[in-house]
Amino acid sequence: MSNESLANLLREERRFAPPADLAAAANVTAEAYEQAKADRLGFWAEQARRLTWAAEPTETLDWSNPPFAKWFADGKLNVAYNCVDRHVENGLGDRVAIHFEGEPGDSRSLTYADLQREVAKAANALTELGVQAGDRVAIYLPMIPEAVVAMLACARIGAPHSVVFGGFSADALATRIQDADARVVITSDGGYRRGKPSALKPAVDEALTRPGTENVRSVLVVRRTGQETAWHEGRDVWWHELVDRQSEQHTPEAFGAEHPLFILYTSGTTGKPKGILHTTGGYLTQVAYTHHAVFDLKPESDVYWCTADVGWVTGHSYIVYGPLANGATEVLYEGTPDTPHQGRWWEIVQKYGVTIFYTAPTAIRACMKWGDDIPAKFDLSSLRVLGSVGEPINPEAWVWYRRNIGADRTPVVDTWWQTETGGIMISPLPGVTETKPGSAQVPLPGIAATVVDDEAREVPDGAGGYLVLTEPWPSMLRTIWGDDQRYLDTYWARFGPGQSATGVAWRYFAGDGAKKDDDGDIWLLGRVDDVMLVSGHNISTTEVESALVSHPKVAEAAVVGATDPQTTQAICAFVILRGSASESEGLVEELRAHVAKALGPIAKPKRILPVAELPKTRSGKIMRRLLRDVAENRALGDVTTLTDSSVMELIQSKLPTAS
Ligand code: WT7
Repeated sequence: MSNESLANLLREERRFAPPADLAAAANVTAEAYEQAKADRLGFWAEQARRLTWAAEPTETLDWSNPPFAKWFADGKLNVAYNCVDRHVENGLGDRVAIHFEGEPGDSRSLTYADLQREVAKAANALTELGVQAGDRVAIYLPMIPEAVVAMLACARIGAPHSVVFGGFSADALATRIQDADARVVITSDGGYRRGKPSALKPAVDEALTRPGTENVRSVLVVRRTGQETAWHEGRDVWWHELVDRQSEQHTPEAFGAEHPLFILYTSGTTGKPKGILHTTGGYLTQVAYTHHAVFDLKPESDVYWCTADVGWVTGHSYIVYGPLANGATEVLYEGTPDTPHQGRWWEIVQKYGVTIFYTAPTAIRACMKWGDDIPAKFDLSSLRVLGSVGEPINPEAWVWYRRNIGADRTPVVDTWWQTETGGIMISPLPGVTETKPGSAQVPLPGIAATVVDDEAREVPDGAGGYLVLTEPWPSMLRTIWGDDQRYLDTYWARFGPGQSATGVAWRYFAGDGAKKDDDGDIWLLGRVDDVMLVSGHNISTTEVESALVSHPKVAEAAVVGATDPQTTQAICAFVILRGSASESEGLVEELRAHVAKALGPIAKPKRILPVAELPKTRSGKIMRRLLRDVAENRALGDVTTLTDSSVMELIQSKLPTAS
């Protein structure tokens, strides 16, 4: 990205210092950066001591065959023991692990002692079904405690799980079962969504008719909604019949630190989904450390809530493994934020006295759109740290979040990471960092990240390019399941290995555009496929979107570059207006001028289309590919991963020139 255009882009001057009381008692202080800088591997070896090992590792990192890393390779541990049993052994059996809140309003709390019994029974049940260490188990469940129990039971017996998001179709489920060659599927009759029971089991039945799924011997079915369910005798087993009659005793076996823990498929906008493989010792070390550091978790007093689904990596690392390894008390919520009313989340924060809240920008923008008066009706004074993850957060959404949810008092931590990185990589620390709305800012202690240009040269402060990770990290993906070559090609071929002072340097290419500001802080600019080329200038979709959202009449915006004969690409924006704003020619002009003023005339959108909804994947990412199809008058590509495919018909009807 040229410096000249960068100078125009995103001039965000607001700064927020950590609250003094939080800083004074923070889990992690500025010293951690120094310590990790002086001895990075020593720092991670020390973090590994947060875990209870059956055999302590003597080696930290084996990088003798890059980019295939081994962390703590001669250590042995059991992940479920670390997340559950050891807390009970330490006298914390009565501490609540999970406050479950069902969408219809049912609730139940599980202590660590309860969780230990449930996980032991489920582990015994899987063993009875013939599951052995190394066998893959697919999990296709709603957000109910059994999802957490099932994951931990798999971890306990060394069977890697592959969690498939409950909103995915039979097709998506079938491809994931085939690719991982799963032996058992754990599912439920259904779950509650938007006030209604929504079936899950039929998708499993359909997926298992596809070739390549024959090795699935058993389907273990949780009864959640009580709806009618087709039954395959000899294959299907009710959870309450099999699991409930098992012994509550189960001796956890210790596995090597590089034993696979899970495969998780990335949404991937192109090509077949990539099965990201994570292992145990390094993964658990980093998710436990980052959860402790980034959220300043005080397990004896905090109530933590991450609103993600366990079907995404955020749910794996920051609902299941990180918080439970740290002995946290957390909320698990089954449903959507606006059922039965738009204050449902805030009602839950009030009910449980949630202190740490972690969500995604897309949800924050939805809440902004619903209005400030909704969170204002609830007592949110328990909150002390707010987090964001999933995409760049627009400065306006960041500031709204801090003001309306955090009473202008709580730090907001914008956490950058990926399915592939396993844990948080770049984020402010709530007791240390003076935050900047819209920026993830600094690599965590022990993490090495920078921004490089096309030739893999580190860019100076104030310039932009591609985000790279320059040293291996404990929770890094180990490979793509069954495809080492694709692992090399996708992440490591682009920027390495090149020569550096210390020899051959491997740089991990994250696929994100980024820039360093004058302080050297990192700003994420979205996937590199989301950078537009307009009259020779690289302009990030994120920055134009942020400029649009900073206008009081805009609730949400999605920007794409459409092929243009004059300018290579032309900026085309789709905007959702705030409640009372009405569309008019005048408003469109006003918005174009607003962007030009914020970012410079080069970033002024050629077209702005007010729409009612934006096309999003189920993880909340805007599908710009489809908007580009609309903007370029093409037939629409694959819409199967959209939450609501009718959204596209609505949008197309707005475009006079589109077919
Ligand atoms: C991609 C990874 C990490 C869990 C959820 C997403 C984008 C994620 C941020 C952030 C800017 C972000 C990146 C990244 N992303 N967090 N704080 N700021 N961008 O996991 O589905 O693997 O997606 O999400 O583009 O590469 P994922």
